[in-house]
Amino acid sequence: MAKQEDVFKKVISHAKEYGFIFPSSEIYDGLSAVYDYGQNGAELKNNIKSYWWKAMTQLNENIVGIDSAILMHPTTWKASGHVDAFNDPLIDNKDSKKRFRADVLVEDYCAKIEEKAQKEIEKAAKRFGDAFDKAQFESTNPRVMEYREKQSIILNRLARSLENEDLADVKALIEELEIADPDTGSKNWTEVRQFNLMFGTKLGASADNAMDLYLRPETAQGIFVNFLNVQKTSRHKLPFGIAQIGKAFRNEIVARQFIFRMREFEQMEMQFFVAPGTELGFYEEWKQKRLNWHLALGLGADNYKFHDHEKLAHYANAAADIEFKFPFGFKELEGIHSRTDFDLTAHEKHSGRKLQYFDNERNENYVPYVVETSVGLDRLFLAIFSTALKDEVLEDGSERTVLSLPPALAPVKAAILPLMKKDGLGEYAEKIFNDLKYDFNLIYEEKDSIGKRYRRNDALGTPFCITVDHDSLTDHTVTLRDRDTMQQERVAVADLRSIIDEKTNMRTLLSKL
Ligand code: GAP
Repeated sequence: MAKQEDVFKKVISHAKEYGFIFPSSEIYDGLSAVYDYGQNGAELKNNIKSYWWKAMTQLNENIVGIDSAILMHPTTWKASGHVDAFNDPLIDNKDSKKRFRADVLVEDYCAKIEEKAQKEIEKAAKRFGDAFDKAQFESTNPRVMEYREKQSIILNRLARSLENEDLADVKALIEELEIADPDTGSKNWTEVRQFNLMFGTKLGASADNAMDLYLRPETAQGIFVNFLNVQKTSRHKLPFGIAQIGKAFRNEIVARQFIFRMREFEQMEMQFFVAPGTELGFYEEWKQKRLNWHLALGLGADNYKFHDHEKLAHYANAAADIEFKFPFGFKELEGIHSRTDFDLTAHEKHSGRKLQYFDNERNENYVPYVVETSVGLDRLFLAIFSTALKDEVLEDGSERTVLSLPPALAPVKAAILPLMKKDGLGEYAEKIFNDLKYDFNLIYEEKDSIGKRYRRNDALGTPFCITVDHDSLTDHTVTLRDRDTMQQERVAVADLRSIIDEKTNMRTLLSKL
């Protein structure tokens, strides 16, 4: 089995074993691509949300946050284009009866060609050592150039066919490339069909007059329809932004890779409203700001890259993804889109209401342009969790599993551990717990050897372990163990609050921005 797959399996099993993520309704064998966050997952998720929310709304005086409903008037989705165009091209394999996204089959085929190119590059890098010039090699080596050219021809044809809704050509491409069902090897394919990704539901009790609704596929539209409400009540002038965190639902066909692609997930989106003509400057600014926000987490700059879109959606005049190196390779983590005035204009048209702003300086009314930043909370969770999870071999040859989460995001900030329950150590430890619980999420554990309790808390990502021993009763000091360095020091009980706070508070993380 490939190493990457092993790493990913370990991530999934660790997330379950330590109460971060469970399959939804597991006692009924689960529900495909739906997951529940357990006691530690919920804390970690809340801390990630808090980092995003505070960075957006507290650090930018011209950004405010809202919480709009999941259910919206159905015309919203007509106006946004989701009813007509939020489709995936699907293809079924007649032998295995499995369904695939036709575009993903072609993209996976190209990814394999790219793997070959990467192997050539790696081989050359080894051969030339320090003298290796990657850019020059990529632009001159005939094999690498051939692999890249081949990918470009295939992907351009795919993009053209999808844009022209020429689904017959997408099928022809799959057949020409002799792409087979990855599980069975069968090449017996159906036609390609479009499939709308929105979940439908009904409003109202009786079947006759029930109204057809959709579960929102993105949170952004709740912001657009509230643009004037917020602008007027907040009295913000342009440029200003509206942020929102909330659930979104997509009936994903190829829902796999754990919480990377889910049917029910959370988005953290911000729409930044700007004057027409200024949007591309703000777009560049937000691209950089968002990358810096990710980098401040300390997961490693090499794990991120931009992917600028060449083919733009009909509503965008610039778009890029921030990609992250997940255990299964670089994939989209966040999108930054310059959405022009498409959404507000469409809502004006469909609602008959004006969604315009009077610009005092320009002395004119206009529909603002929008720059959007949109990050999937669950994907971010996976990025942070999978990068933090490490197996380490220690100096004495023993091993440990540690979850090196950024301390401000760790679900539990400190574990209070009496060496033993008797001799008053339990009571003393409980006193410390009760004193610190108003400031930090803590756990109190008295079972198992101290070594086992350290290991358990390492695997949970707890930045500090606080051990109470007999000396604590007389000198009012405890042993403070650091998760990452495993160093232990004796500190005064009276100093615990400030030590834990300094390392784990959100301020430390936010002040890096
Ligand atoms: N409002 C723009 C929008 O929704 P998107 O690229 O479709 O754009 C934005 O989604 C982000 O939402 C993605 O970058 C990804 O992080 C997350 N996302 C999208 N679909 C997802 C899914 N099925 N499961 C988990 N996260 C998803």
